[in-house]
Amino acid sequence: MTPYEKLLIENKIWAKARVEEDRDFFHRLLKLQTPEFLWIGCSDSRVPANEITNTAPGEIFVHRNIANLVVHTDLNLLSVLQYAVEVLKVKHIIVCGHYGCGGVRAAMTQNDLGLINKWLRNIKDTYYYNKKELEAIADIDQRADRLTELSVMDQVMNLAQTSIVQRAWKEESRPTLHGWVYRLTDGVLHDLVKMMPNTPLDPVYQYDIK
Ligand code: CO
Repeated sequence: MTPYEKLLIENKIWAKARVEEDRDFFHRLLKLQTPEFLWIGCSDSRVPANEITNTAPGEIFVHRNIANLVVHTDLNLLSVLQYAVEVLKVKHIIVCGHYGCGGVRAAMTQNDLGLINKWLRNIKDTYYYNKKELEAIADIDQRADRLTELSVMDQVMNLAQTSIVQRAWKEESRPTLHGWVYRLTDGVLHDLVKMMPNTPLDPVYQYDIK
C-alpha cells in the first residue's frame, strides 16, 4: 500500500466510525454550515484548526496560508473573509500563529527564496517596524517567537482595516477579532489580543461606510 492509498482507506474507516457513533452525523452536516468562527491559520501541518480546538466539522470556517497572513491584496483571503462575514455571519475571526513557524524564521534571514520572498516580505515589514524591540532579544528562537506575536497582532489590525470588517462592525456589531498563538511543544493556545467591534482605528484606515 502506498502512503496516499492509506489516506483513502483511513477515510473509509473514519466515515464508518462517525456513522456508527451517530447515525445522522453526515445528514445533519449536509444541512448545516453555520460556523461561528473564521480561522486564519498557518498552513503548517502541525497546526490543524479543528483538532487543536476539539471542534467538529461544521464548527469552524478555515483559511490557511504560509505564516497566517492577512494581505489586503490577497483575493483568496479576501474572498474567504467576505463570505465568512457577509454570508456565514461569523461572530469571531481568529488569526492563529504558532511558535516555531518556518515562514517567520525564513523572513528573519536574508535568504533569496524566489516567489515566496514576496509573501514573506509582509513579515519583514513587521520586523522592520519593531526592529529595536526585536534586536534587543539576543536569543534567536525567542526573537522569532516575539516576531510571531507581533505579526499576529499586525494581521488582526489588517483585518480591522478592511471595509468588509468595518461594514459588519457598523451594521451588526460583529465580528470580534482575536489574535492567538499556538505552542507546538505543549499544544496550548495563547490568547494575545482581542479587538471588539467598532474599536476606533486611525482615520487613515477608517472607511466612511454608508
Ligand atoms: Co507556520
